[in-house]
Amino acid sequence: MAGDGGFVLLPSGVSATVLDTAELSPREAYGVLTSLVVPRPIAWVSTVGRDGRGNLAPFSYFQAVCSRPPTVMLSIAWRPDGTPKDTLRNILDTEAFSISVVDAPLAESMNRTSAEFPPGTSEWEAVGIASAPGSRIPVPRVAEAGAALECRLVHAVPMGTGRSGAPSVTVVFGRVVAVVVRDDLVVRDTSGRPCGVDGKRIAPVGRLGGTAYVTTDHRFDLSRPKVPEEEPA
Ligand SMILES: Cc1cc2nc3c(=O)[nH]c(=O)nc-3n(C[C@H](O)[C@H](O)[C@H](O)COP(=O)(O)O)c2cc1C
Repeated sequence: MAGDGGFVLLPSGVSATVLDTAELSPREAYGVLTSLVVPRPIAWVSTVGRDGRGNLAPFSYFQAVCSRPPTVMLSIAWRPDGTPKDTLRNILDTEAFSISVVDAPLAESMNRTSAEFPPGTSEWEAVGIASAPGSRIPVPRVAEAGAALECRLVHAVPMGTGRSGAPSVTVVFGRVVAVVVRDDLVVRDTSGRPCGVDGKRIAPVGRLGGTAYVTTDHRFDLSRPKVPEEEPA
């Protein structure tokens, strides 16, 4: 039923509860957001530290936010002890990171790289993931991934305050300077110039709330609506 302002009103008999976010613990707020903002794409982020050590970890607070110039964002939480996660520290130090796309066959390996390994351990070796060299940045990507976005840091925005007094998260914005695409996924224009990616040939994995994930087995299309023409009088 549409109200005067065009809003859909709750049918009578259906009640709703307001969760006032000021009353929720950070853990509860996390649970609510990650259950409702779904499915989230997963950025499998590789970085290299100042010491040359490689790091690889997944992040689902991740989105593309601008096409001109191509830009993505990641939100990386600080650890409870007030230190940055290795990924964030490396991005702030080197200003470069690579995002490998996670498809279904890579999901388990991706998840294993999210473990808190002891300091000094490289997830590449610990989980046994093959890397391929970066093309425009000195950061490797996951060799088996269908595509990787090579990024340079443009902004790092701290947000909120954790128990330790450190930021709750730092949101990093990265300019995508190159996209490395497996040859069978490349789309070319009539002159043979590579100009895109065949999304129908990728089986991406998305993250839902808790430990749930989703694939895109069932797809359907919806054309964008046109502005309705005025009804003839
Ligand atoms: C699918 C998935 C998504 C995740 N998304 C995030 C995220 O958006 N932000 C975050 O701070 N941690 C996220 N994590 C947890 C990190 O991957 C985890 O803390 C990891 O140990 C960080 O590694 P690092 O210290 O090597 O950077 C996620 C874990 C998984 C499995």
